[in-house]
Amino acid sequence: MEHFLSTKKLSTEEIFSLLDRAENFSKYGSRELPGKYIVSNLFFEPSTRTKMSFEVAERKLGLDVIPFESGFSSALKGETLYDTVKTFEAIGVDALVIRHSDEGYYEELIGRTSVSIINGGDGSGQHPTQSLLDLFTIREEFGTFEGLNIVIAGDIAHSRVAKSNADTLTRLGAHVTFLCPKEWKGNFEAVHEWNVEMLQSDVVMLLRVQHERHDGKLTFTKEAYHDQYGLTVERAKKMKENAIIMHPAPFNRGVEIDEDLIECRKSRIFNQMENGVYVRMAILEAILNGRN
Ligand code: CP
Repeated sequence: MEHFLSTKKLSTEEIFSLLDRAENFSKYGSRELPGKYIVSNLFFEPSTRTKMSFEVAERKLGLDVIPFESGFSSALKGETLYDTVKTFEAIGVDALVIRHSDEGYYEELIGRTSVSIINGGDGSGQHPTQSLLDLFTIREEFGTFEGLNIVIAGDIAHSRVAKSNADTLTRLGAHVTFLCPKEWKGNFEAVHEWNVEMLQSDVVMLLRVQHERHDGKLTFTKEAYHDQYGLTVERAKKMKENAIIMHPAPFNRGVEIDEDLIECRKSRIFNQMENGVYVRMAILEAILNGRN
């Protein structure tokens, strides 16, 4: 695998192969890659989970990780992303994990650099490594995707997680229902209120209200959003016994999810974060092995 850019560029065979490899890392621990690879994590948008779990994954694979802080880089002097990537290529870096606010930022890089690019999130476009870790978490729970009913509720239009998961989950045989306010449905068909069938789903996945992408023009109060679209304790009581709650995090406590549900028995939110390390190890391994 040369790059890891979008779920749409992954075949189902590649998805299952990465999930199997991640499962291997989760069961049997890390393995240092043969060869001396140098990687760096270029995050031009804020991140805790993706950036730090990539860094843990890289260390577990024995990679050399070059620190990069966008706020102290020459991006502040106007250097373009392309020129930044060409600089890393020139100094001998093998792979870059990049998060950037421009949707599809990688299109201008592919074919113009020998560095392998891993997409850590592109604007409101895609978050393919999050999707893989969500798939890992769902498969760990149910053993399959075929026939599962999954509700994805929240700020769909601005969510790269929704886009990546809509692609992978439906391709793998799950039935996905989107729930959101009318003005946040983006290009998806969505329903705009909870019903009993949705609460009887196998997975309820909440998405963060992305205040930073609304230009300060939110049409709801936090309380009104929680009452109408959030997973409240009352709604969670109606979920199936073996159903699970997911959220890519960071979460707005008391907005898309009730504070009391974040660490409840059904919640897999912190398992998702742990699984992110295994999945990112599998992706890095596939990319770096592909460079031999
Ligand atoms: N889930 C996720 O992408 O979190 P971060 O923004 O903290 O990386």
